[in-house]
Amino acid sequence: MTEEFHRIRRLPPYVFAEVNKAKAAARVRGEDIIDLGMGNPDTPTPPHIVQKLVETVADPRSHRYSVSRGIPGLRRALAGYYARRFDVKLDPETEVIATLGSKEGLANLSAAITSPGDTILVPNPSYPIHQFGFIIAGASVRSIPATPDEEMLRALDRAVRHSVPKPTALIVNFPSNPTAYVADLDFYRELVALARRHDIWIMSDLAYAEIYFGDRVPPSILQVPGARDIAVEFTSLSKTYSMAGWRMGFAAGNPRLITALTRIKSYLDYGAFTPIQVAAVAALSGPQDCVAEIRTMYRDRRDVLIRGLHAAGWDVPSPEGSMFAWAPLPPAFREMGSVDFSKLLLKEAGVAVAPGLGFGEYGEGFVRIGLVENTQRLRQATRAIKQFMIRHGVTPPPARPETGGAAVPRTEAEAVANADA
Ligand SMILES: Cc1ncc(COP(=O)(O)O)c(C=O)c1O
Repeated sequence: MTEEFHRIRRLPPYVFAEVNKAKAAARVRGEDIIDLGMGNPDTPTPPHIVQKLVETVADPRSHRYSVSRGIPGLRRALAGYYARRFDVKLDPETEVIATLGSKEGLANLSAAITSPGDTILVPNPSYPIHQFGFIIAGASVRSIPATPDEEMLRALDRAVRHSVPKPTALIVNFPSNPTAYVADLDFYRELVALARRHDIWIMSDLAYAEIYFGDRVPPSILQVPGARDIAVEFTSLSKTYSMAGWRMGFAAGNPRLITALTRIKSYLDYGAFTPIQVAAVAALSGPQDCVAEIRTMYRDRRDVLIRGLHAAGWDVPSPEGSMFAWAPLPPAFREMGSVDFSKLLLKEAGVAVAPGLGFGEYGEGFVRIGLVENTQRLRQATRAIKQFMIRHGVTPPPARPETGGAAVPRTEAEAVANADA
């Protein structure tokens, strides 16, 4: 009885815990921490969606158990989104399921399709559930590079030829958390061809489908002809409509994978609260100006953050999508590694970021900076980072005029959010 449970033993210590602890302690001391360490949207859900929830909750019929795989209207609304946005036709009966946030769907599908000892291919660094969903289910994970290019395809080819047992599934996520890399359709074409050739399932995580800033609009893997023979794709309302707390996501694509997830979920849950599902229909099928507004908000924040970091002497690539900047440690701090750098930045600049190591060993040497504070706070953060860099002997480039902004107090709810989101 003293030995740790088998599945728990397979979970390494939470890398973010150290930084989270330091963050909590600083807050207890009354310090104002600018928290860019999370992926938790900080703006409210658009009012018409909230209104639909309120309306529906007033009807007692909505208080009963709901439908595990999602009410038919919701599955139809998701199919409508795919038709509009990607020109992909989905059968809402056999090719769509609603999930309790996409994280739940990713975890339960991983469990549904994994036999102990299976080999799964996962980019490194990646969003933790991408590998841990499979690890909890008893699989072994083989890391592949995280960039959607030839290098990843070559590594996949090598992995397929040399892994024993042969890999059964591959997970991809573009725009990516944490790297912010964006894939194009040509890349997906090659990926689908490879997976079909070798009989490998693909799970594509498209949580940031609508958070993009340039001309490269993120495609769906299901746009590739034949993709649904081997692929399923996860989408989410969390970021698109600032609905992270509502827990509403979807899987769409291969009917066999959808059936497997439906079966597992029918044993585990009764579906999201009906008013949430009805409000999710309003989100997907109602006016979409809010999506453009949310996108513009993240783009403005990105511009402020990247400009401010450059002014501080920190050369961080400008992300094309997602709600993160993936920042290589400034040369002066490279030796200390991402966890110690994050702790130092928190202590001396009052800015929290997520250490890259928390997303896998190849995330070392980077930190993830979330666009989860308003532009005034981001300016405040980059000014503090500039002073921090100067104290550590980094000479910033010649200053450019900047407008200032007042600090905005944080709420308790924002402070308790998970760091891996
Ligand atoms: C890449 C990625 N996938 C999935 C999720 C989880 O989203 P959801 O709220 O739909 O569970 C996140 C959350 O941050 C994410 O970054």
